[in-house]
Amino acid sequence: MGQPKVTVLHGPNLNLLGVRQPDVYGYETLDDVNNALGETAEMQGWDISCFQSNHEGELIDAIHAARLDGTLAIIINPAAYTHTSVAILDALNAFEGRVIEVHISNVHKRESFRHHSYVSQRADGVIAGLGTEGYQAALNAIIKSCV
Ligand code: DQA
Repeated sequence: MGQPKVTVLHGPNLNLLGVRQPDVYGYETLDDVNNALGETAEMQGWDISCFQSNHEGELIDAIHAARLDGTLAIIINPAAYTHTSVAILDALNAFEGRVIEVHISNVHKRESFRHHSYVSQRADGVIAGLGTEGYQAALNAIIKSCV
């Protein structure tokens, strides 16, 4: 049997992590985040695939791909699409594994338009405000719940 697989999806502007509003999102880059997740996954015997896009349709295609490639769980930071995208919610509803929604910042402490998440209607867990550590928390929770 192959290794269990987790897919990590990062939404728009997260390619600028480390240089975009570091007071809000910190100084770690997206590569730092993905490399750290890769190390944890490898140590625990998991296969991991990380993908970032600034385009809604590409994120939806990646969710569709995860339905078919044996992915057990998706960790997703939909970024601004969190607050706007019924299409990403619909795609996640077509995925049968676990879904953890991650936000680097505490969206509830910010502008009111960030308080509503379409994705939360599907997510099995939501992490916000732990900085980039939130991704590790999500991965650890997935690994623990799938052993
Ligand atoms: C974010 C919060 C969103 O409101 C924002 O649009 C982002 C990042 C976060 O990780 O804190 O781009 O998802």
